[in-house]
Amino acid sequence: MLEARGFKPNFLITMTNDKLNRIQRRRSWAEPYKIKVVEPLKLTTRAEREQAIAQAGYNTFLLRSEDVYIDLLTDSGTSAMSDYQWAGMMLGDEAYAGSKNFYFLEATIQKYYGYQYIVPTHQGRGAENILSQILIKPGDYIPGNMYFTTTRLHQELAGGTFVDVIIDEAHDATSLHPFKGNVDLQKLTDLIEQVGAERIPYISVAGTVNMAGGQPISMANLRAVYQLAQTHGIRVILDATRAVENAYFIQRQEEGYNQEAIATILREFCSYTDGCTMSGKKDALVNIGGWLALNDDDIYEEARNRVVIYEGLHTYGGMAGRDMEAMGRGIEESVQDDHIRARVGQVEYLGQKLLDWHIPVVVPIGGHAIYLDAKRFLPHISQDEFAAQRLAAELYLEAGIRTMERGIVSAGRNKETGDNYYPELELVRLTIPRRVYTQAHMDLTAEAVEEVYYNRDRLGGLKMVYEPKYLRFFQARFELL
Ligand code: F0G
Repeated sequence: MLEARGFKPNFLITMTNDKLNRIQRRRSWAEPYKIKVVEPLKLTTRAEREQAIAQAGYNTFLLRSEDVYIDLLTDSGTSAMSDYQWAGMMLGDEAYAGSKNFYFLEATIQKYYGYQYIVPTHQGRGAENILSQILIKPGDYIPGNMYFTTTRLHQELAGGTFVDVIIDEAHDATSLHPFKGNVDLQKLTDLIEQVGAERIPYISVAGTVNMAGGQPISMANLRAVYQLAQTHGIRVILDATRAVENAYFIQRQEEGYNQEAIATILREFCSYTDGCTMSGKKDALVNIGGWLALNDDDIYEEARNRVVIYEGLHTYGGMAGRDMEAMGRGIEESVQDDHIRARVGQVEYLGQKLLDWHIPVVVPIGGHAIYLDAKRFLPHISQDEFAAQRLAAELYLEAGIRTMERGIVSAGRNKETGDNYYPELELVRLTIPRRVYTQAHMDLTAEAVEEVYYNRDRLGGLKMVYEPKYLRFFQARFELL
């Protein structure tokens, strides 16, 4: 950071190149910030937690946050903002129309993501709704690198069918493929031949892939997807929710990129797509916000018209002026190399600890979370008895740690047959909020997981006693078997 601002500390000037190289290569991920404000946490007893989780129907989404000690439910909207962002909150221009914070946000997205037109939304699914309504006709197919819950639901509500075209390795929790988010070009080609390009409004590509374990897609793969799509006149729409984290993996793992800045990689990455939906609640370091970005002016015009129905005027889209200012500033911070290295570094620290203790987790460690492999963790509990859901409840009971099921409950039912999907991956996600928890919190989390692992034989399954129609994982209720 200092050097970026034109400083060169004395000790670096007098250092030999060899020593300098070694320092720059050092592997620790120490935070490029210090703590200015703290939020006290409540410690609970085991008896209190037993009551709380039973009242929550063994669903961690239904716990009260004040009963949670370390909240690893999600990295969505849970980041700590910087003093620069908080200062921006005081500069909210709360005009109904034409807020100056919108123009700042728009210019920031154009600069770092490179898209031409920006439609603000209250969060990611607001953008997914508008995009799906505009582009998808009943009977269409939308190929993608693994489903995401809200994204697929909006595609289905618009009459489309999602088709998974991710590489097979993504469904294997033990495969060490460095880019498990890649699209299988053969699967994509087969689908285009089978249904015809005119039935495919766009290819839905996410970087990183949340449901696969936060796994990245390579620049080469996205470029190839874009080229293939262009030859068929099909658009590529990016789910840019964690694209900065994806850029970090490209920088570190893909040939030709390790001297490139994260910001440069992100721009190139987005250039192989025709637009994006975005949940600003992740990479962009804010508690609420999102956007839809497009390069086609006719689709933009339609989106700008529809946003006023569902979100708000096209210069706020459901956000306050101060929220837009905080998000613009959050984007600037999110693309700093120091920031992203520490962010993913903390995730990898926890993951490595669990790997060292032989706990079954999805490998390679992804960008935003550690995913426990419930099929190997609790082999005696079947998917029909909700192994991952049970494990998430147990981590809460053990240490007040809140995590999230990403298995059969999240996968839901086939929209035609009503049958349960049986995903290959039955996972529990320990999601790390950005800039929130300390290394000691990570240590304690690892110790709690290890304790549950040690006692795993004692756990039984669950039965579902209430199932909501849409996105059932949020509100479903369970009982102990
Ligand atoms: N796409 C991805 C890849 C996401 O992870 C999310 C949200 C969305 C879209 C929807 O964005 O929540 O702002 O409407 N993921 C959160 C999570 C909920 O916990 O992974 P949203």
